[in-house]
Amino acid sequence: MQLTQAILPVAGLGTRFLPWTKAVPKELLPLGNQPIIAHLVDECLSVGIREICFVISRGKEAIPQYFYQDPALEAELKRRGKSHFLEQLKRYDEVKFHVVYQDQQLGDGHAILQAVGWAKSPTVAILFGDDLFLGKRSGLEQLRDAAKLTGDDHGAYVALQDIPQEHTHRYGIVTVDTRHPKDERVMKLKGMVEKPKPESAPSTLGIVGRYLIPQSVFAVLPKVSNGEGGEIRLIDALIASLSTTPVHGVHCEGIRLDTGTPEGFREAVKIFE
Ligand code: UTP
Repeated sequence: MQLTQAILPVAGLGTRFLPWTKAVPKELLPLGNQPIIAHLVDECLSVGIREICFVISRGKEAIPQYFYQDPALEAELKRRGKSHFLEQLKRYDEVKFHVVYQDQQLGDGHAILQAVGWAKSPTVAILFGDDLFLGKRSGLEQLRDAAKLTGDDHGAYVALQDIPQEHTHRYGIVTVDTRHPKDERVMKLKGMVEKPKPESAPSTLGIVGRYLIPQSVFAVLPKVSNGEGGEIRLIDALIASLSTTPVHGVHCEGIRLDTGTPEGFREAVKIFE
């Protein structure tokens, strides 16, 4: 499977980081020597993706701005001999960035829907900024390798991690159908349920922010708008597609950092120190 395009939905209001998300998108918080969002873009580059669409809300323009070329700044850095900084800026030159707006925060699937007209490749990578993977292979690399193993280029792939039982109500939780004979971390799913209570969760394998989504699932998105509160959720589109589009789970290796909460972000900062 050749991955060329990715959608990064970053239109959320970031209420857990208020008040300062009034002025600074949480995706621009620094981890190591770059903002969180740059770690996600690097993950896209690691699998050869060169077309990236940000789904933003009004006021979050600083996110795409970070990646745009700035010829005046580059000329000034050159003049001052600051080649290290210049190199850092140039690394995004070969990437085509695109921006769409989500004007109402009606769910992750609704955010993705805003980018569907842009997404032309048969399978598109989706990355949610709250989750970062640290390990030998990035989350997207693990999904791509799983697709190589199954040979199923038309299916969907979701990243999974083992979640503490008491946290199942924060995740989409899956039911496994079969495991791949050559790698038991790669599995075919037969069900998914959004944020079940611990006592009713079908397993402790939770979906974490990386997906490979075929066009067939995008086609279902507009039809699943009856979720709670009128939201459109990606997981509902995956559930609705299960009978026609295989959904594969990939139990990802490595440490997952949840940067979507102030506590998780503080932990992540320590790890990047
Ligand atoms: P969250 O549920 O973490 O929401 O979204 P949030 O707004 O970012 O943060 P809180 O809960 O208010 O603190 C998970 C991901 O989905 C995107 C967010 O930007 C984040 O990357 N998202 C969510 C959208 O782009 N649009 C939506 O309508 C909902």
